[in-house]
Amino acid sequence: MHLRAWRAAVRPCALLLAAALLAACGGGDGDRRGTGPIVFADSRDTSRGSQVKRLVAAWNARHPAERVEMVELAESSDDHRAQVVARAQDAAAAREAGKSGAPCFDVTTADLIHTAEYAHGGYIEPLGENDFDHEAFLREPIDSVRYKGRLWGIPLRSDVGLLYYRKDVLAASGVAAPVAWEDLRNQARTIAPSKGMQGYVTQLDQYEGFTVNTMEQIWDATGGGILGPDGAVVATPSTLREGFERLVQGVREGWIPKDATDFNEERSRIAFQDGRALFMRNWTYAYELLHAADSPVAKTFGVAKLPTPSALGGWNLTLSSCSTKQRTALRFMQFLTSEANQRRLFTGAGFAPSRKALYEDAALLRRYPHLSVIGAAIEEARDRGPSPYYHEVSNTFQANLHGVLTRPERLEAGLSGLREDLYRAAVGR
Ligand code: GLC
Repeated sequence: MHLRAWRAAVRPCALLLAAALLAACGGGDGDRRGTGPIVFADSRDTSRGSQVKRLVAAWNARHPAERVEMVELAESSDDHRAQVVARAQDAAAAREAGKSGAPCFDVTTADLIHTAEYAHGGYIEPLGENDFDHEAFLREPIDSVRYKGRLWGIPLRSDVGLLYYRKDVLAASGVAAPVAWEDLRNQARTIAPSKGMQGYVTQLDQYEGFTVNTMEQIWDATGGGILGPDGAVVATPSTLREGFERLVQGVREGWIPKDATDFNEERSRIAFQDGRALFMRNWTYAYELLHAADSPVAKTFGVAKLPTPSALGGWNLTLSSCSTKQRTALRFMQFLTSEANQRRLFTGAGFAPSRKALYEDAALLRRYPHLSVIGAAIEEARDRGPSPYYHEVSNTFQANLHGVLTRPERLEAGLSGLREDLYRAAVGR
């Protein structure tokens, strides 16, 4: 065969191959099919002035043919996950039976701990390297959307635990914000009661917040953890005991109030904002609410890195496999995560940006000096463990240990067998 004839014969094949490769790897949004109205599922918008809803309204004003209906799911990460998984499974079952199920959540937010599970379960679509400008994002949030070498979402907001403290009270006692857990314990035990305040409030209800708080103590006290970087169990009874006992001790000694064993993020934020507590561990969003003009502590609170390592938090936007409007969905995801909108979500709602540029913006840093604290804390934050069974592991952990906070005599019973249970949970059994 002559070269020209050979070329003519193979060209269609080459084109087909290129198209197949692009479809497999995902190209720009030009490769995505389907436009039209979509559903966006997020957690309840608790930000001041409903900043996420405002952005959805701004999108809708400009895209009347691609309207986004926002569905607010539960505030807690665990309940949010349950709703997303139920809807994705429902959609898959309906598709298999050739029926139309409940409407697909085309775009959903996902706590970063759930990326691996959603990808593994086939609930979400991998994104291509060209689907968004991933180089412009911080490394940590980008790592949180990677699973098995592919990208499974666009980081909407990053997150990290911070220590909020009453700078007026500490200054009056002549001490600086604690940089070690033992200092925090001493100040919470001695200074707080002398001012009629609670010492330390944090998220200790039986949900992901409890796992986070305990993990941070284990990391700090022993260098151990629950899951390793490959998602395998690394917990041992002694590392679990040593870290967890710090929280048990706080409750027993009274500087962690008993109510905090039922607290989620918002309940701890309200306790601190009402002036009841000297210290609070909370995520970045709390700053904006504490800082508001109507906040009783607006002028008296300070913010610092936690005296322990922090878990990396954050929420990503994911594209559901059931979506038939993937082109609109992806464009909406790109819109929410644009630099301008990340700036809006930071200044309006306190959500930590996931784009690098905002941490280098001199004007923003001048106006929000705590942004550099957030940036440094994110760089040092630790991964909770990328596992498609993270939820089962965390649940097992909570179920075995949560009750011990208020009944310390149950510690050994809670620990016995926990390692075995964690091993089973980590492989999905
Ligand atoms: C915050 C974090 C998230 C974490 C959750 C725990 O929303 O961003 O990563 O899992 O709190 O309650």
